Amino acid sequence: MSEQANVTPEQYIPLCVPDVSGNEWQYVKECLDTAWVSSVGAYVDRFEQQLAQRVGSDHAVATVNGTAALHTALLVAGVQPDDEVLISTLSFIAPANAIRYAGAWPVFIDAEEHFWQMDPQCVTDFLENQCETVNGVLRNRVTQRRISAIIPVHILGHPVDLQPIIELARRFDLVLIEDATEGLGGSYADQALGTIGDIGCYSFNGNKMITTGGGGMLVTNRADWAEKARYLTTQAKDDPVEYVHGDVGFNYRLTNIQAAMGCAQLEQLDTYLQKKQTIAEFYGERLSRIDGVTPMPVPSRGNSAWWLYTILIDSELFGTGRKELLDFFAAQQVQVRPLWQPLHCSPVYRDCQVVRGSIAESLNQQALSLPSSVGLRQNQQERIIELIASAPR
Ligand SMILES: Cc1ncc(COP(=O)(O)O)c(C=O)c1O
Repeated sequence: MSEQANVTPEQYIPLCVPDVSGNEWQYVKECLDTAWVSSVGAYVDRFEQQLAQRVGSDHAVATVNGTAALHTALLVAGVQPDDEVLISTLSFIAPANAIRYAGAWPVFIDAEEHFWQMDPQCVTDFLENQCETVNGVLRNRVTQRRISAIIPVHILGHPVDLQPIIELARRFDLVLIEDATEGLGGSYADQALGTIGDIGCYSFNGNKMITTGGGGMLVTNRADWAEKARYLTTQAKDDPVEYVHGDVGFNYRLTNIQAAMGCAQLEQLDTYLQKKQTIAEFYGERLSRIDGVTPMPVPSRGNSAWWLYTILIDSELFGTGRKELLDFFAAQQVQVRPLWQPLHCSPVYRDCQVVRGSIAESLNQQALSLPSSVGLRQNQQERIIELIASAPR
């Protein structure tokens, strides 16, 4: 089954590649022509303002990538070394690493089975039954560490059910940081993902909703936090002329060239969202006819950005498992990929606490992400669907 099929390189279908057919060349050329290429420049300001306006946030601070945005968010939110931060276990590893960069520890929260996002019920169980308030500070009963923040990750562009999580965050005085790195353009209860909690973070990595090659952004309505983020991401300069530094800062700023690309990409976000939605509808309709395949659910509250279209394979009903399908697609020159190993199973985080975890583990066994580039053509989608239907069993 893993034998190379008779397909030409032209038939190769990548998982998710960017579209750079807008004003990218023109804006980047302007940076090169004027030599405004580094981390200061009109495009950085413009990108921050336009993104803030687009999502409806008061402030935006551009960063070198989404991981840096998350790290900075944790620091401005006041997360201290040895605190604990609740985070979705079914996620790419970056937000967990950002928690460790801040010296804090992740507590992994399982996914719910309907939309595969952080399960608010697990958050409730943990906060109500596994924590206690000691001298006004919420602590994990087992580790006695302070619980200071929660990071729901909107995976695959779908919204996390945030309402109950917002209520819990208020009740237990936790800072709510949304990892919206996969969800730019998606919404929950008519609000843009990333703007519902206290701070939101986006990524502009090559495969994300928009790209700057690599890049990120932090958004917040709190002016003091935005100012602190700007300070920390630019080496914490108290006096920029005399090189006086009041903190251990970071070189986390985005360059003007990258921001120029970001401005051009942002102009096309609506087109991208429309294309992703069309791709999702086509997959959803066709794949629902194949026994053993569960199409990606459609969110009940809010709109998905449909970042990566993902299906579940029931190996018994379908006749073969998602591991075999991965090999089959590789041989057919079609790039598909599994969901991330749940973070509580990852060797690096195996010793951290998890609240349940079994649903994320089961989703991980079954999930397969399909090609979802905005430039994906319908005949390519038809080929992918036909390959699933005809995969050797
Ligand atoms: C859920 C999630 N969080 C954070 C990141 C980190 O973003 P970046 O790659 O821009 O650092 C990514 C993507 O890479 C991601 O998928």
